[in-house]
Formats: sequence, structure tokens, C-alpha cells
Amino acid sequence: MTLTPLKYPVQEKALILGIESSCDETAASVVLWEKGKPIKILSSIIASQNTEHAPYGGVVPEIAARAHLLKIEGIIENAVQEADINYVDLDAIAATAGPGLIGGVITGLMAAKGISMSLNIPLIAVNHLEGHALSPSLSEDCPFPYLLLLVSGGHTQLLSVKGLGNYRRIGSTLDDAAGEAFDKTAKVMGLGFPGGPKVEHLAKSGDSKAVDLPRPLKGKNHADFSFAGLKTAVSRAYNASNKTETAKANIAASFQEAVCDVLNDRSRRAMKFFIDDPDVNSNKKHHFVVAGGVAANTKIRESLETLCESENFKFVAPPLKYCTDNAAMIALAGAQHYAVGNFDNISVKARPRWPLDMIAATQKPKSGYGKKGPKS
Ligand code: KG4
Ligand code: ZN
Repeated sequence: MTLTPLKYPVQEKALILGIESSCDETAASVVLWEKGKPIKILSSIIASQNTEHAPYGGVVPEIAARAHLLKIEGIIENAVQEADINYVDLDAIAATAGPGLIGGVITGLMAAKGISMSLNIPLIAVNHLEGHALSPSLSEDCPFPYLLLLVSGGHTQLLSVKGLGNYRRIGSTLDDAAGEAFDKTAKVMGLGFPGGPKVEHLAKSGDSKAVDLPRPLKGKNHADFSFAGLKTAVSRAYNASNKTETAKANIAASFQEAVCDVLNDRSRRAMKFFIDDPDVNSNKKHHFVVAGGVAANTKIRESLETLCESENFKFVAPPLKYCTDNAAMIALAGAQHYAVGNFDNISVKARPRWPLDMIAATQKPKSGYGKKGPKS
């Protein structure tokens, strides 16, 4: 049974606690929202689970859920302390309610429900992707509408961010996320986890033209992605190689170049779709934002920056601490919902799959489905 949300008065100013636990980061943050002013981040605590998942070369859902459970209380406590406030000062609590790994999402959401009930303050169930979509404004003024490329271990998508609650998904991966492909490449070559930084480091000494790898969906007249085939091609190339350090470096460099190429091509296509939208003023210079862990890659950033110059977009890459998973972005999204009185009831459910753009999610992608349909 879904209960109607409780009514709370909206104040001119509010202290909001955000909680994030949808993948392998347990995070909590306190922000100060004041009407008409930029958001102020009072604390942002993140506990990564890299050591827990490293032996497996990827995120293991059961291990993630257990680690969230063990860490969440202390992380929330730290966030409140670092913000130099008391629990009773909080005006609202926002938590990721999906999409993500169900065990982790439930852990964070249940903690938020407990705090909301005990303090009698509004609960705001935030879509994790909405947190990423709004995250640029944690560090700079980023006027709507803007184009967002979200590239992480869990997501690869292109979104037109038009305003709060108004998102159009222009493209999405049909199978794996770009970060997953980096992690798999590292795993195949025994480089360790998380794979992205290891592959990037190794690629520096390799020849990016040495191994011929596919560029899935490049040139197609849509902005979707696919990385499963590239991942398999890397495995094949490695198995067929002599497995020396030079061979590994060449594979790493060639793989990184293939990802760069695909992200660039799909983003260029998305820029056209973004501008063609009647809601977007095509004469204005708009922002192109890249967020997610893969955005830490220097080659990828540089190639997207060059693309923006040629396509007349302003390139924005927020500081990494706000573009990888964090709770400040969840608190920020919560603050924006708070401002318009969008509150959830305590009966709100965790949603492992929760598309940000329902219309796009119910349309068949132009080039086939992932095994379980679109993730988000
Ligand atoms: O956003 P994030 O911290 O967590 C989520 O997945 O939501 O992203 C982590 C992903 C991992 O797959 C990691 O390998 C990748 O980002 N990554 C990188 C780099 N640093 C992290 N990929 C490529 N180059 C990097 N330097
Ligand atoms: Zn994320």
C-alpha cells in the first residue's frame, strides 16, 4: 500500500542530509539550501569498497550490501559531525532509492526512513541518476538546458537536462557501461581493480594503433552505446598475444583509444539531437557536462574537450569528487525537491531499475535490447 506523502512546511532555508549507497560507495553529506543562493556543502563523506571488491575484479552485490550495512551508521555520524550540526538541526533527509544494487539501496533508504521518522522531518527518495544529472551545479553555475554524458562503472548515457524532473534520454548503453569495459580489460590482463586507472596508466607506454579493435555503433544515426563486443575483442586480442608488458600496454592503449573514439562519436551525434529539440535555443552556446568515474581519464576528457570546441559547446568536467558517486549530489537533488515540497511517504520502495526518462525507457532502442531491457 502506498501512503500519500506527509505535508511539511517548506522553509526559506534548510539543512539536508543526503545518503548514497547504490553501488560500491557508502556516502553521506549535509548541505545548506537557501532560497535563491548556491547550495553550500557542509560535509561530504565517502567510504569506498575498493579493497572489498578488488579480489574479484568487479563489484560483488552481496559483498557490497554487507559493506554498506557495516559502514552506513558511522558515515552518517561523520557527515553530521563534520557539518558541525546536531541531528535535530536537520530539516529533511534525501536518500538514493534507485537505480542500483538492491541490497545497498535498501540499506541507505531504510537508514533515511529511520531518521525521518525519529526526527519527524520529510523524506525525499532520490533517483541516483538525477543526482548525477544535477551534480554540475555543486561546483559551478550550469544553466538548463545542458547535455550530460554520464560514464561510470554502472551507467553510460547521454541526457538532455532541461530542469528539475525534466530529463530526456538521448542515448544509453545497450549492454555494458564504459567503466565495466575498463574493469573487464584490467581483469583479463590481471591489472587489478578498479581497472580504469590501471588501464590508463599502462596505456601511456603503449601504441594505440597496435591492435585493431572494433568501435561498436560508431557512425549510427542514434546516440546509443555498446561495449560488450569491445570487451570480448580485448579478451581475444590478449589471449592471442605473447602477454609481454609491451603487448599489454599496446592492448590497453588501443582499447582506451577505441572507447575515446566511441564516446566522441556518440556525443557528437547527441549534440545534434540536443540542439534539434524545439525546447533548446539552437543559437546559444550550451554546456556539455561529462560526469562519472570514467571522466577521470585524461585522454577521454581531452578528446571531449576538443569535440566541444569544434561543436560550439562549453566543456564542463566537475571535480572528480562530485562526478563519481557521492552523497552531496543526492543532498543537492533532495534540496531542489525540498524547495518545491516534493516529499515521499515512508512507504516509498527501493527501485533497482528506475528510468529517469520514462518515455525513452519504454521505447525500443534502435539497435536491440540488453538482456533485461534498458537499465535506466
Ligand atoms: O562513478 P564511479 O566512481 O562509480 C560508479 O560506477 O557509479 O565510476 C567507477 C568506474 C570504474 O569502472 C572505474 O574503472 C572507472 O570508473 N574509472 C576510470 C578511471 N578512473 C575510474 N575509467 C577510465 N579511466 C580512469 N582514469
Ligand atoms: Zn553513479
